Amino acid sequence: MKILVVGGGGREHALVWKIRQSALAREVVAAPGNAGIASLARCVPLSADDVSGLARFAVEERFDLVVVGPEAPLTLGLADRLEAARVTVFGPSRAAAQLEGSKWFAKDLMLRGGIPTAQAWVASNRDEALGRAREIGLPVVVKADGLAAGKGVVIARDARELETAVDDALVRGVFGPSGERVVIEEFLEGEEASVLAFVDGRRSALLVPSQDHKRAHDGDEGPNTGGMGAYAPAAVLGAEALADVQRRVIDRAVATLEEHHGIVYRGVLYAGLMLTAGGIRVLEFNCRFGDPETQAVLPLLDADIVEIMIATARGELAPSSVGARPGAAACVVMA
Ligand code: AMP
Ligand code: GLY
Repeated sequence: MKILVVGGGGREHALVWKIRQSALAREVVAAPGNAGIASLARCVPLSADDVSGLARFAVEERFDLVVVGPEAPLTLGLADRLEAARVTVFGPSRAAAQLEGSKWFAKDLMLRGGIPTAQAWVASNRDEALGRAREIGLPVVVKADGLAAGKGVVIARDARELETAVDDALVRGVFGPSGERVVIEEFLEGEEASVLAFVDGRRSALLVPSQDHKRAHDGDEGPNTGGMGAYAPAAVLGAEALADVQRRVIDRAVATLEEHHGIVYRGVLYAGLMLTAGGIRVLEFNCRFGDPETQAVLPLLDADIVEIMIATARGELAPSSVGARPGAAACVVMA
């Protein structure tokens, strides 16, 4: 098979590395790839956001499978375009990617589906946002509704931080259109964990749980980032808790998407969890592999990832084919 991996980060390096281990992978190409990926695959200078260019390239070069790493091309409809051109794609449709593309869409889905999550409200003007935040009380979490590369979330601990966060999004437009609405959310405390699942529209299979390190600086200090490192498996989630996450979080999200929106989810669904004293709460959904979690999770996947991706794309996932290796893996980010 000829396989195209879209993206150019450490996550895509891990994907290419795992894909290359499959007997099905005859040729692997990355767009745009990076210097590390270049030792494993041909890299072509196409940006991951250039959905028209990518779709054209995939058709022209007759790829058998396109694997989409980052969220941006998914929210721009790359999977829909490829499907329309009859190219097999691993990654959800634009409609399904709203689970990540809009935090309020995700929150609304969780409320409809009875998926455990923090209480939250949406606001599109300053007074409303500040009013809701005061009702909830400090500390309070302010989230830009749209994509912000993991930087759109602020935990406001005092009135000044709260006003700055709200003004950045709604008044100063720091996040552009992504910050035209904000989600004001109850602050939760606990350990975090990331659970990734292959989802074929109906069935799901979990990968080993992981934990990433969000804060920018050493000693777990500084602002939130998309992730400064990761390890797996995250022992905070035992087998019983994982089964619970699969049933009450992953499978419910997929079922609720279909029931309320008529959307079929196919690809990887990522649930960001907070393990609070009151139980598991979902912080966010992502429509793709975690970055950097993938670098710690894929070495522990005991399976042919290409087979799984094709089966997932076709709605024929066999959950028992997704095995886990014993041991542990870690990813260190140098910055
Ligand atoms: P999100 O993009 O929604 O996952 O938020 C990014 C990070 O902000 C999370 O990984 C948490 O570390 C933190 N966070 C998000 N929501 C909350 C919350 N309700 N309470 C406490 N921390 C949160
Ligand atoms: N590491 C967080 C994420 O992939 O969104």
